[in-house]
Amino acid sequence: MLTRLLLVLAALLFVATPHFTVAAAVDDVDWWENAALYQIYPRSFQDSNGDGVGDLQGITQRLAYLKEIGITATWLSPIFSSPMSDFGYDISNFTEVDSIFGTLDDFKALMVQAKSLGLKIILDFVPNHSSDECEWFQKSVNRQDGYDEFYVWHDGKVNAETGEREPPSNWVSVFGGSQWTWHETRQQYFLHQFQVKQPDLNFSNPMVREHMLDVLGFWLDLGVDGFRIDAVPHIYEHRNADGSYPDEPVSGWSSDPDSYDYHDHIYTKDQPDTVELMYEWRDYLLKYEAEHGGETRVLLAEAYSAVETLSAYFGNGTRLGTQLPMNFQLMYLSGYSTARDVVGNIDYWMNTMWANHQTANWVVGNHDTERVSTRMGAHKVDLLNVIVNSLPGASVTYYGEEIGMANVETECTEISCDNRDGERTPMQWAPTKNGDFSTAESTWLPLSTDFERYNVRTERGVARSSLQVFKGLQQLKSSSAFLAFKQEGGFSYEAVTEQVLQIIRTNLRNEEYRILVNMGNKIEKITGLSNKVYEYILVTAYSVHRPGETIDLSESIILMPYEAIVLRWLA
Ligand code: GLC
Repeated sequence: MLTRLLLVLAALLFVATPHFTVAAAVDDVDWWENAALYQIYPRSFQDSNGDGVGDLQGITQRLAYLKEIGITATWLSPIFSSPMSDFGYDISNFTEVDSIFGTLDDFKALMVQAKSLGLKIILDFVPNHSSDECEWFQKSVNRQDGYDEFYVWHDGKVNAETGEREPPSNWVSVFGGSQWTWHETRQQYFLHQFQVKQPDLNFSNPMVREHMLDVLGFWLDLGVDGFRIDAVPHIYEHRNADGSYPDEPVSGWSSDPDSYDYHDHIYTKDQPDTVELMYEWRDYLLKYEAEHGGETRVLLAEAYSAVETLSAYFGNGTRLGTQLPMNFQLMYLSGYSTARDVVGNIDYWMNTMWANHQTANWVVGNHDTERVSTRMGAHKVDLLNVIVNSLPGASVTYYGEEIGMANVETECTEISCDNRDGERTPMQWAPTKNGDFSTAESTWLPLSTDFERYNVRTERGVARSSLQVFKGLQQLKSSSAFLAFKQEGGFSYEAVTEQVLQIIRTNLRNEEYRILVNMGNKIEKITGLSNKVYEYILVTAYSVHRPGETIDLSESIILMPYEAIVLRWLA
């Protein structure tokens, strides 16, 4: 009763101590606000035709697994026609399925299965660039009607001293080397913020914007629930009024002039027009929803940008933008990060995004980043899963993180030689041939050597395995106190010691959960957390307790190294 009174009082006064928030009442929490999102890298999830590469039929076969572990929606990395120079992020036809993944009919079948399971499907939308093998680029090279300015072309500059032709500006691509490449046929430079085989589309051209809306419409008509927008900050570049492009200043972060970090990207990242574009795309989705009904369609944005910029992408009070500008703050943690560091990274998001928009999402990993087990240590996998699923908002899990998959040391082959291959290896389903990913003799990337230990089938049968912990967390995440962050109740998070993080979730029905995470390698004894008696609800492998045991927090609590637990107050 006292808690309830305090919470109501706090809600009325809208009081927020540094890490404690009681949100204003709103009618409902929309599905995406608290969603458990899951990223599938299609080449590596499930191979159905024995060619060693994952495909759509394979994903369809495995959708029931996502339901089993409590996922709300899954986003698929690109499935579209592509020469695969960047494994699908170089698209040659935006409304066709690549034959390596199957057919459009396979995609339709996937949608039917997803709907019947109550799972949502989100596609990757890659607007910044196409493949150089895309018909649009070929037409632009040949200056065909309407396509002349479809990409970013420029004559370049003539060096006054040498008389030689040079690129229009000093811009360096994300993968290194100039962003400008000379095209012999067209006799001009074209811009590519990523690979040479990924020419940038010219978003200042209304026809490009229209084509891209058509792409969104095409997939929306097939029933998708939203899009993850690729490389958002890179969509626009600054162009001077005279048509020239300004050089970027040196950043001081790198001594290699060919590396992306060498410059401060003030003219090639997060330009004001990009913010407008997010609003345009959201308007398109809102109109679509109004005309077609159904639940909210979402936009996730991939943007490695300052949280202040992400706030603009989300919306500005009058315009709505992307609902889920992806929050990578917890991906920046390392094996050395303490609970206080974690709080600092959480704060950076909450102080801006939560404060402005009452929204949060927490990304654990993706196909461009080392897996948690490799980045932070195998013993930290469950800790991260506990943290992201206990904080308010959406969680985003990269396939395999729920079973503690680690990066694999891969060698260059004819199929792939990418420094990100290590985090893209096949999903580990069972302790059988190829981890039950494929019947092929060899798979496009090798299986991890530890797949017989870390795999779905084995972990299903092991109490306190990463998979079991993950499933338990999803059950909690969809329960009242964890959902209640907007309508009622509140949450708080703090480092109670240098290494112990505490998250509290409550609702107005007198429920209170305490999540304690020991990030350190020492036993911690903590006193004074509360004066109430709690029950252990969820324990991880390092815990000496069992669910159902009780603990009186008016005395002290002991946490083992790397132990994470969820306690429930016995009201
Ligand atoms: C995004 C993708 C990455 C890709 C790049 C270019 O950052 O996540 O995998 O290489 O965009 O499309």
